[in-house]
Amino acid sequence: MKPDNKAAIGIFDSGIGGLTVVKSVMKMLPGEDIIYFGDTARVPYGIKSVETIREYAFQITDFLVKKQVKMILIACNTVAAAAESLLVDRVAKKNIPVLGVIDAGAKAALEVPSNHKRIGVIGTLATVGSGAYEKAIQEKNQDISVFSKACPLLVPIAEEGWADTDIARQTLEIYLESFQDKELDALILGCTHYPLFRQQILSVLKNPSLEIVDSADSIALKAKEVLTEKKLINTQEKGSFSCYVSDKPQRFQHLAELFLGEAVRRVEVISLPV
Ligand code: DGL
Repeated sequence: MKPDNKAAIGIFDSGIGGLTVVKSVMKMLPGEDIIYFGDTARVPYGIKSVETIREYAFQITDFLVKKQVKMILIACNTVAAAAESLLVDRVAKKNIPVLGVIDAGAKAALEVPSNHKRIGVIGTLATVGSGAYEKAIQEKNQDISVFSKACPLLVPIAEEGWADTDIARQTLEIYLESFQDKELDALILGCTHYPLFRQQILSVLKNPSLEIVDSADSIALKAKEVLTEKKLINTQEKGSFSCYVSDKPQRFQHLAELFLGEAVRRVEVISLPV
């Protein structure tokens, strides 16, 4: 297929959390049409097996390919950890670039000035258990030490709208305890939901030189670089947004606003595989 700059960017996640990536893409690439798929019927992925996560990711990728997108962004850290290279291979013949949050986040963390050569990563059990961030960082720089911590309670706390509460703060104090004496240069927010905790994390870690790496911003920036290089930027003033989910959760609008910062006017429910 000949790449077309008017084609949409496909973005997907296990649920609604990937709207944090949509938000960053809308900010950095305002002219792009976006097709989003959130697998709300099967979320969370973070506690599922690698085989199951891969199977779901194949189905969603095939759906986006049918929609003739010009690029696919894996917004979900858990999917990127389990399946990024498999998805790249799956669509390679169709000439559709596939970018994942892990590669983009690891590169951004390596660009942070490194005084202590120490990077922290927080994510779901599946993401941290996969060691994907460590691998992506140490493939590029073996001198960096990577410290990881799974923070599974943060997803439900974010979805409850409690990211700014004392409950979130106390939870973060427990999860981040082991980072307090590590003198990290950067901390990667390795989960779609974690940008909501940015301020709380900074205040709990009390490390004035710490840089927070938001993998949502990192992948949006990377997408811009790749589209520019391939001359595939859509130059229209404002792109459209199409939102598909596999189930319409209760409080969908509330969750969408939490992650995207605005209401999602239309959402279509579809079952996979299509
Ligand atoms: N989207 C997932 C991630 O970024 C978090 C939610 C889930 O466990 O499915 O890892």
